[in-house]
Amino acid sequence: MNHTTGSSTLDRSLTQAMPASFSHAASPDCAIARLCLALDAAFDTCDGAQDPSLRASFARGVRAALAEAAADPTLLTDAQREGAANGYRRHLLAADPLGRYAIAALVWMPGQASAIHAHHTWCGYAVIDGTLTETVYEWNPASEYAAPLRDQSRKPGAVSFTRAGRTGIHRLGNSSGTAAVSLHIYGVPGERIASHVNDIVRIADSAQALLA
Ligand SMILES: [Fe+2]
Repeated sequence: MNHTTGSSTLDRSLTQAMPASFSHAASPDCAIARLCLALDAAFDTCDGAQDPSLRASFARGVRAALAEAAADPTLLTDAQREGAANGYRRHLLAADPLGRYAIAALVWMPGQASAIHAHHTWCGYAVIDGTLTETVYEWNPASEYAAPLRDQSRKPGAVSFTRAGRTGIHRLGNSSGTAAVSLHIYGVPGERIASHVNDIVRIADSAQALLA
């Protein structure tokens, strides 16, 4: 548990225009439905494990599903590519009827970035359009601060998967001059996507990270 924020902390970026979730069963032929089916298949490899992210087969399945969906030009509508002036915007695309995952598109206008955070749950993302910069941090349990390790440029097709916990601290942002879009999957029910995913952490050189 974060020493600065609890799991009920609301990610402010998620308060913008959150649409209702829907079940993929209603539209079996669209790209998002295919993504849900691929995720369901990844869960099927885990034999009901309490934490599927510990299974290599699950990680492989999620990464493959992300890569295929992110490359599909029909995945997002024009409305789901719309950003916001006051922070990156998240569009909820689908939520698993069993509550095992939620899928969202994030739209990053130039200069927008996430807070520095770990995750309360497993998650994965893929870049769809534009270029994101991912800064990776290392957690120091003695000082309870994170320190930056490296920046990496994440271009369309880049895929990432991480388990819950402080071993996966990062910050995503758009330092380019054009909008970027990414696809994210989180191991939470749709209604918890704004409150039970990001674990915002302090960084070593500035408590202002909390305000990012
Ligand atoms: Fe993240």
